[in-house]
Amino acid sequence: MSDEQDASCLLDDLRSIIEDERRLFGDTLLFEQSPESQPANVERHAPPEAVNKPVIQPSRHIEYSMPPKKPVAVEEPLLFELPVSSAKPPITTEAWGGSNTLDELNARICNCTKCALGTTRTKFVFGVGNPKATLMLIGEAPGADEDAQGEPFVGRAGQLLNKILEAIHFKRSDVYICNILKCRPPNNRKPTPEESELCKPYLKKQIEIVKPKVILCLGLTAAENLLGTNESMGKLRGHVMQYEGVPVMITYHPAALLRNPNWKRPAWEDVQAVRKLHDELLANTTTAG
Ligand code: URA
Repeated sequence: MSDEQDASCLLDDLRSIIEDERRLFGDTLLFEQSPESQPANVERHAPPEAVNKPVIQPSRHIEYSMPPKKPVAVEEPLLFELPVSSAKPPITTEAWGGSNTLDELNARICNCTKCALGTTRTKFVFGVGNPKATLMLIGEAPGADEDAQGEPFVGRAGQLLNKILEAIHFKRSDVYICNILKCRPPNNRKPTPEESELCKPYLKKQIEIVKPKVILCLGLTAAENLLGTNESMGKLRGHVMQYEGVPVMITYHPAALLRNPNWKRPAWEDVQAVRKLHDELLANTTTAG
């Protein structure tokens, strides 16, 4: 018998027990404690319709006969405040969604196996930095070094990223750094659309908790997944986009800069523009607040 049939039989049994009790004792005796288990100082009142009923002593052994099974009626009685047909835990509520801090969120999702990367990763790479950062950087996915250490951007690309941040007067610990994916794709391949879709709610929650003033996407994969755009880097850089009301700028991925030093100049212009936008928005908040 399936779990659902089991549950349905159990509910039928329960319902018939309740109906039997109701027939024998009226509503007052439903689930009542025996007098011995009641505290002495508790005064018990029967509801008005039961006051004049003859008191029937329940026999010790009540035989409950099973009524014939009937199809579940559309108008179900409420059982324990829930319609019988929906007396199952809702499957759409995910416990991590209620997290209020990054630590809480990390603790709740770090064993994720929603996609196959959960079985091939070494470490879950949640994110790092200031939980109240005003600038958030989003990369693509952990590489081999990140997978081994459990921290984003710690390999060669990460060293370059630290230098870029220093050049615009940010310390790594000032900002918050994370990726579209929390687990390394084998051989550093691009995230699949399915992996990104499954992982994106975690990033969304991180953004919700950190509440950055500005987001900088490092590379096209980050931009495509965060903003749902297919535009080229040439079209995207230099513009301010929006993600859920947060301004977003896009620049080259540090790994791309290592491969293509010609892009360092435009990347330098991009990060200077990010710094300027960040400072303006911060100044506005300070004067407004
Ligand atoms: N590349 C990324 O996109 N993220 C990392 O964390 C490391 C390399």
